Amino acid sequence: MIEFGSTRSIEESGADALLVPVRAERVWDESGDWVAERLGGDLSAFLDAADFTGKLGQVVMVPGAGRVPILSVLVGLGEAPDAEAVRCAAGAAGRALHRVRSVATTLHTAVVGGGAAAALGLILGQYSFERHRSEPKPATTELVQFIRADDEVLASAEKARVVAEAVVLARDLINEAPIHKAPEVLAQAARDIGERTGVRVRVYGEDEMAAERFGCLIGVNAGAANPPRMVEMWYEPENPKAFLAFVGKGIVFDSGGLSIKPAAAMETMKTDMSGAAAVFGAVQAIATLGLPVKVLGITPLTENMPGGSALRPGDVLRARNGKTIEVLNTDAEGRLVLADGLSLAAEAKPDLIVDVATLTGACMIALGEEIAGIFGTGSGTDRVQQAAEAAGERVWPLPLPDDYRKKIDSDVADMRNTGNNRYGGAISAALLLREFVDDIPWAHLDIAGPARASEARCYEAKGGTGFGVRTLVALAELAATP
Ligand code: BES
Ligand code: MN
Ligand code: ZN
Repeated sequence: MIEFGSTRSIEESGADALLVPVRAERVWDESGDWVAERLGGDLSAFLDAADFTGKLGQVVMVPGAGRVPILSVLVGLGEAPDAEAVRCAAGAAGRALHRVRSVATTLHTAVVGGGAAAALGLILGQYSFERHRSEPKPATTELVQFIRADDEVLASAEKARVVAEAVVLARDLINEAPIHKAPEVLAQAARDIGERTGVRVRVYGEDEMAAERFGCLIGVNAGAANPPRMVEMWYEPENPKAFLAFVGKGIVFDSGGLSIKPAAAMETMKTDMSGAAAVFGAVQAIATLGLPVKVLGITPLTENMPGGSALRPGDVLRARNGKTIEVLNTDAEGRLVLADGLSLAAEAKPDLIVDVATLTGACMIALGEEIAGIFGTGSGTDRVQQAAEAAGERVWPLPLPDDYRKKIDSDVADMRNTGNNRYGGAISAALLLREFVDDIPWAHLDIAGPARASEARCYEAKGGTGFGVRTLVALAELAATP
């Protein structure tokens, strides 16, 4: 766990390593000059040899020739850096520094708000999931000293830590093996968040499911050995400025059910609860920061399995709001469990509902692996887009055309759970979700792509990214300051 502090100078810090931000064309500050001096004035020959230009995320290590700091790490910020560039550089540097105990840096001075960006990037860059290794090797950095940082920089770094730790919580849950995260285990993780933050948690158990009319969640769970859970998390500060409801898809493993997936497509399906993980993280961070916004977090949790009692293509389910859905493909299960979750959220009459879901491969086809699709009604999309931008998470709007609604018309029920063909699959799914939010402003984030990173990059590690946590927290921050 990294602590953040301030120091007056490189020498006074006594740090083991110095982290030097470098802009394109090797433009650096006095910490770069300091390294150059140590090397007898000529750093550029070394950087030529190492092919280091200051390109964003580039890292080069310079040994201190037996003196303290014993190591300097130069990290590229690229041209005209912004907060995201600082987060990215901090992530890359954090990874390079993961065995170093203490670090001094001027990285916080690179942009306005650089303290928060540096803190978030360093913590997330050093993330790795070590739980199942017999010899875990977590990052061992304990102290990062910002050179001549004032109290404001340190305070913003502490806030960034709260958010980063919420992202870490989400990543840990996403990366966990499905056998270790049955619905009740995730429900317990929600209760633990409640214990730590004072958030009130209600878990609907198996016995309550039918009486509470969670017909879709029951249906998706039918082929699974582990019972489902519906989790509600209530954060209710005094005099809230707004009321937000977050709904997260919590499929702890998606085999496809009887419409079973090919083996290769199943390999990453433990991550199909990334939406629920984002909601857990966001609620934890918002409550810890004490933001003056009421939040209801809802996560329907189940496996999607093809057991003997499994949901069949042709079955009809009734969602909590009374609408019926003909299931033609049991692999389109996310929209089913969200139908119950969104109905429950709408009953609470929040100002805005945001759902987060690894919902469709079609959205990945449209936008690639790094950008989420955003859909919505009312003022929902604008506000969430603004929040995502502030947080540095990439989203792009997709339409909800009314005339496409007929693509999910059913012969026997109010709607069917797949489109009439494979085209526009992300839209068909979003149109189904719209049936469950009444007339409450609503935004839907399809995070099938960015929920998982196929390679380490900037401040992301390979695996679960925790995408969505930062957008939801930023949304609460925006709602708190109208
Ligand atoms: N969880 C998947 C979507 C997904 C796919 C997320 C790849 C991340 C990576 C979802 O439940 C699903 O299977 N969707 C189907 C819907 C189809 C059957 C209409 C899809 O996208 O293929
Ligand atoms: Mn599926
Ligand atoms: Zn799924």
